[in-house]
Amino acid sequence: MQVRLDKFICDATGLTRSLAKKALHRGEVKVDNCLVKDPGFKVEPQMTVTLDDAALTLPGTRYLMLHKPQGILCSTQDEDYPCVLSLLDIPRADILHIAGRLDVDTTGLVLLTDDGQWSHCVTSPKKTCHKRYRVQLAEPIGDDVALQFANGVQLHGERELTRPAVLQVLSATEVLLTISEGKYHQVKRMFAAVGNKVIGLHREAVGEIELDAQLAPGDWRHLTEAEIASVRR
Ligand code: URA
Repeated sequence: MQVRLDKFICDATGLTRSLAKKALHRGEVKVDNCLVKDPGFKVEPQMTVTLDDAALTLPGTRYLMLHKPQGILCSTQDEDYPCVLSLLDIPRADILHIAGRLDVDTTGLVLLTDDGQWSHCVTSPKKTCHKRYRVQLAEPIGDDVALQFANGVQLHGERELTRPAVLQVLSATEVLLTISEGKYHQVKRMFAAVGNKVIGLHREAVGEIELDAQLAPGDWRHLTEAEIASVRR
């Protein structure tokens, strides 16, 4: 696939678009050993791009799982909280995006990638990729809640009922909930809709991808080929 030269430099180095353009203007960039100054020059996959005579390479497509701790925000930048990307000690972490965000006080499995199609399959309501949460509740769970969730509940401010969800009761105040959509604060709002309150929320699984028990909060690892392939395209 072709990519614009200024974008190629940005993606390979982390420079801003304007700094990449300045480097081009100063004549620091060569493509296949020829000086190129045009930011819109189309780079083909087989071409070699150098900056100050050092070869540049694009990071390959990456797929990661992270064990999100409490107090970390699932966004790229924030003034009040550190964000998940700051936990990744890898080059060009800034070009990864989060496939399904968690609230700042929610812990557990976060998937990150630079494959837009793959993350769309994880998050799109049309693809019904299940997410399993371990939930701590303020009040004992009611006998009828599993049936209510199976039938769908009305969330405040939504037109449609929630999709069928599976509730597994572990104790009076601890449950597993599996949902196939990801509306804003969905799990907290579902329990609010049945008169309860979530006091602890942890995502254990997304589709067939389970949070690796070896990962301490804040740790991450690359996904395996099988995990990547488990997300239906
Ligand atoms: N539902 C919520 O309410 N919060 C999350 O972080 C994830 C799902």
